[in-house]
Amino acid sequence: MRIGGPILDPTWTALLYLVAAVFFILALQGLSSPRHARRGNAIGAVGAAVALVTVFLSSRIENLAWILGAIAVGVAIAAPVARRVKMTQMPQLVAAFNGVGGGAAALVALLELPHSESEWVRVAIVFTLLVGAVSFAGSAVTFAKLQELMTTRPVTFLGLPVLMGAVLLAALAAAVAVVLMPVSSVSLLVAVVLLVLGLVAGVLLVLPVGGADVPIVISLLNAFTGLAVAASGLVLGNVLLVVAGTLVGASGTILTRLMAAAMGRSVTHIMFGAFRGGSTAGSTAVSDRPVRSGSAEDVAVLLGYAQKVIIVPGYGLAVAQGQHTAAELASALESRGVDVEFAIHPVAGRMPGHMNVLLAEANVPYESLKEMAEVNGDFKQADVALVVGANDVVNPAAKSTPGSPIYGMPILEAGDAKQVVFLKRSMRPGFAGIENDLLYEPQTTLLFGDAKESLTKVLTAVKAL
Ligand code: TAP
Repeated sequence: MRIGGPILDPTWTALLYLVAAVFFILALQGLSSPRHARRGNAIGAVGAAVALVTVFLSSRIENLAWILGAIAVGVAIAAPVARRVKMTQMPQLVAAFNGVGGGAAALVALLELPHSESEWVRVAIVFTLLVGAVSFAGSAVTFAKLQELMTTRPVTFLGLPVLMGAVLLAALAAAVAVVLMPVSSVSLLVAVVLLVLGLVAGVLLVLPVGGADVPIVISLLNAFTGLAVAASGLVLGNVLLVVAGTLVGASGTILTRLMAAAMGRSVTHIMFGAFRGGSTAGSTAVSDRPVRSGSAEDVAVLLGYAQKVIIVPGYGLAVAQGQHTAAELASALESRGVDVEFAIHPVAGRMPGHMNVLLAEANVPYESLKEMAEVNGDFKQADVALVVGANDVVNPAAKSTPGSPIYGMPILEAGDAKQVVFLKRSMRPGFAGIENDLLYEPQTTLLFGDAKESLTKVLTAVKAL
């Protein structure tokens, strides 16, 4: 189906694109703090709606039925998934949506090749094809790792660096060929080969990344998708795609660097560490050293008669959905005159800001949430560090064991507190798959069980003191 000419003239189109771009920038500003993140999200959504409507009103649309049908299918799949997804599965969702964005940019570039008139446009096409394909395939592997459809450990094999080098060289040769050749069925075929090489490169790039580093890779792939989308904007001559893609590319790059810094490693180390003979492999072996376990009443006595308690939330608190009970416990302790703080590690949980979002949901005041740098000095004065469903973020192996998957990651110094209490279900390790020596220290008590149930029991016991 074809409908008539564009309704908007180029001036109005440019103006509306400018409005959408401003909305995107304001959205990013809103997303910079949990206080106004919701507003930021809403502004971004309005910007996207303005952009979409502008495209329809400013172009001569062919195949309208197909386009609307594709949008309907996309909405029918994405809306229920986004609505139902658990907070703990958010990184997988981001990986999936990000991959689809990269893949879409690559397909658009492929379809535009037959219409390309200059070598410069073909440069943008091959860039979009390659980077979009890497992002699509890499995101698919990160999704599989996070969803535990495959091992979360680094996957390496003999000759992997050589294979990767060969794939990249072949991709470079194919890209140069597509740019220099006149458009023909042969150049289209070479472009398809380039797409396939990009997919292989994406898989090879992410396979060797260890579980704990996967979130950083998602953020990096997000930046890749942004760059692919920006380049597709050059292909299509659409300035808003260039702006939006650049914003995603820049913010993804900044987030990647911040997360890598929070984990005490460089991005190149994360991507190529396992290539070099691997620092990212851990051991899931659980030793049979003795530990001290206690009852909810024991823990309540430790907490109720303390002067200062620091609560360290982690992934297990999110799984157990114990945030409201944790907040109630903090209030109960405060009403007994105990000074309570929450120590937030930047990569606690499974996504950036996970603990902030979780505790904000339980109305824990922002002033009680302390960032790692701010709180680490306080552990020495704390009577109890209450570690709720956290493990890697307090694991001293990050400081003491070179070769450990988390070596170099700054940790919360829970071990400095006079007493340490862990609420967890078993002796199983955390995400990085390594033992935590702090569990075996003489000042440590373990209260086994689901975090929400344990917190409820401790809360009841504190109230009964
Ligand atoms: P983890 O090291 O993964 O430890 C979580 C702990 O929670 C485990 O020891 C587990 O022990 C316990 N647990 C799980 N379910 C529980 C439940 N229902 N009740 C009580 N305990 C429960 O978590 P962390 O300390 O928050 O560290 C985060 C890790 O994830 C880091 O390695 C980080 O690199 C990685 N990561 C972070 C992100 C971001 S950006 N935040 C994204 C992906 C991965 P039991 O099984 O014995 O209960």
